[in-house]
Amino acid sequence: MPTGFPLLSMPRQILVTSALPYANGSIHLGHLVEYIQTDIWVRFQKMQGHDCRYMCADDTHGTAIMLRAEKEGITPETLIGRVWDEHTRDFAGFNIGFDHYYSTHSDENRDLASTIYLRLQEAGLIDVKTIAQLYDPVKNLFLPDRFIKGECPKCGAADQYGDNCEVCGATYSPTELKNPVSAVSGATPVHKDSEHYFFKLGACEAFLREWTTSGALQAEAANKMQEWFASGLNNWDISRDAPYFGFEIPNAPGKYFYVWLDAPVGYMASFARYAKDNGLDFNDWWGPESKTELVHFIGKDILYFHALFWPAMLKYSGHRLPTAVYAHGFLTVNGQKMSKSRGTFITADSYLAQGLNPEWLRYYYAAKLNGTMEDIDLNLDDFVARVNSDLVGKFINIASRTAGFIHKKFDGMLADGVTNIELVGEFQSAAGSIAAHYESRDFAKALREIMALADRANQYVADEKPWELAKKDEAVYRLHEVCTVSLNCFRLLTLYLKPVLPKLAEQVEAFLNIEPLTWDDAQSLFIRHRINEYSHLMTRIDPKSIEAMVDANKQNLEPTAAPTPARHAEAQVNAAHPVADTISIDDFSKIDLRIARIANAEHIEGADKLLRLTLDLGDLGTRQVFAGIKSAYAPEALIGRLTVMVANLAPRKMKFGMSEGMVLAASGSEPGLFILSPDHGAQPGMKVK
Ligand code: 2FM
Ligand code: ZN
Repeated sequence: MPTGFPLLSMPRQILVTSALPYANGSIHLGHLVEYIQTDIWVRFQKMQGHDCRYMCADDTHGTAIMLRAEKEGITPETLIGRVWDEHTRDFAGFNIGFDHYYSTHSDENRDLASTIYLRLQEAGLIDVKTIAQLYDPVKNLFLPDRFIKGECPKCGAADQYGDNCEVCGATYSPTELKNPVSAVSGATPVHKDSEHYFFKLGACEAFLREWTTSGALQAEAANKMQEWFASGLNNWDISRDAPYFGFEIPNAPGKYFYVWLDAPVGYMASFARYAKDNGLDFNDWWGPESKTELVHFIGKDILYFHALFWPAMLKYSGHRLPTAVYAHGFLTVNGQKMSKSRGTFITADSYLAQGLNPEWLRYYYAAKLNGTMEDIDLNLDDFVARVNSDLVGKFINIASRTAGFIHKKFDGMLADGVTNIELVGEFQSAAGSIAAHYESRDFAKALREIMALADRANQYVADEKPWELAKKDEAVYRLHEVCTVSLNCFRLLTLYLKPVLPKLAEQVEAFLNIEPLTWDDAQSLFIRHRINEYSHLMTRIDPKSIEAMVDANKQNLEPTAAPTPARHAEAQVNAAHPVADTISIDDFSKIDLRIARIANAEHIEGADKLLRLTLDLGDLGTRQVFAGIKSAYAPEALIGRLTVMVANLAPRKMKFGMSEGMVLAASGSEPGLFILSPDHGAQPGMKVK
């Protein structure tokens, strides 16, 4: 029998983490990409017989959580306790098998964060400097960037956050905002000095440059690091002033660790508690000489923290370094950023509440994940079609067409051997390459190979026609053999799919009356064995339940209160914009509005909000426009679309180049942007009047 991939390798000791979700929001389908990706990888490693432990926790500190608790009239501890319950319930609902799910608000995390900090201080890597920050004189609170709004210091656009402008893409410090307003109280913030503690990241550059080439990062991430080195490593502000929900810094009364300092330490703290409860030696896993693999799964948006701050913190506090940091891309739904108004900002809870099977989503994500930082799209029509065709039409079909005969005709017993050893052998020898794809996180490739095998098995069943054999007494042995071969194929497909579909695999194991499958089982035959009676294993997705889920997630984004003038002391930062003052028809006719075809749309390195659009105006030529619509659209969803642009706007020099116009988009008081499109028949270059 071919053995395929070497299965007798030494057991590895692997500690795996997913990023810790914030304790101020619900788990949604965007989050689940990462937890499903990590969980599949962990389950695969466990099936290989490795000692793999999966740690996670809620990320519980910061101003946002403190203010939300205050608004709800509860303590932050009560809030994070409630959210922990919700998060763990949602994760369990999607069969995410953490070995430990903890909280960053724990004694272990306080101790570890303090120890790490003190060691960094001992190593001369902590600096103290006085800086000026915006302060809310009503709430007596230093304001984080996201809690300040005002006019952009570059283009003057109103209602911009304290860190960057969604209109012109400029980045700045909140102290530069014009007419700033506190989003907490509506008061005008004042400048106030305060001592801050800094981690001297710049001093770690030589180490970090070397670490970059250690193979711990994906190629795309290692390239990104080079850009960061080229633009210089800034020292990192790791302190926040009271009031703050977090841990007080040792020997610095009134100063707290910034949430991002103790968040990654939460990986360690989760393990520390788990080690204590399970009799493991912490240092064997986190000590400087540890031989354990440490693997972090993250989203590409938090690479900076995991590829720079975190390894530097570990190195200079006498801990081991990460073996790998694997970043994945963002999730789009139907080609666009998840949107509350379109109902595509789908919570984990609302998915499950519709009775949708979590393993459908696990399968679909796995079919899209290839181990790179590329974004993945959940196209809801494709989701229905793919799951129904692959899982029900191909995989389950093999058992449903053959298992019944084993019961009816052979008292549940499989035959004594398999006659089509070539087919079963082909299935067995695929174990090696499928394992290699799982190992390299190219789940898409693994599933393609598995589904190609499923096609082979279905072809075999179709050729042998067991339902015809069952009608002829003289074909009874043949029927037994065909059904036994088919169920051998089915068992092997279940084994290969088990990291992705753990619950379904469990049901199949019960039906086949076997012990939990491990990767080594790929090499054994499934014969002379009594199986249980087949009962249906998986239903098809009903598209109506997807529609119902989207409807349930659609939020009514109509403004609920009358607009409040922005100057009023208690102005709500997100209040709806009043209709502007009237203008004359002559004023309006100065604006040259044209139909434009979006010939190209692309991401811009380093821009959080902007996309670079190339607009085709027909005979008028093409224009480059930077549009602040990245939050709402994936570039590929825009290409080819018609829209409306202001064609005679004076060109503006922006950080990323010259912008030669403006596309029109609607927005309201809630997040969400909607670019305008003309009716069918409009042509690029046509004037809009
Ligand atoms: O981006 C986030 O959602 C953070 N809460 C992730 C923290 S990951 C780790 F460093 F703890
Ligand atoms: Zn601006």
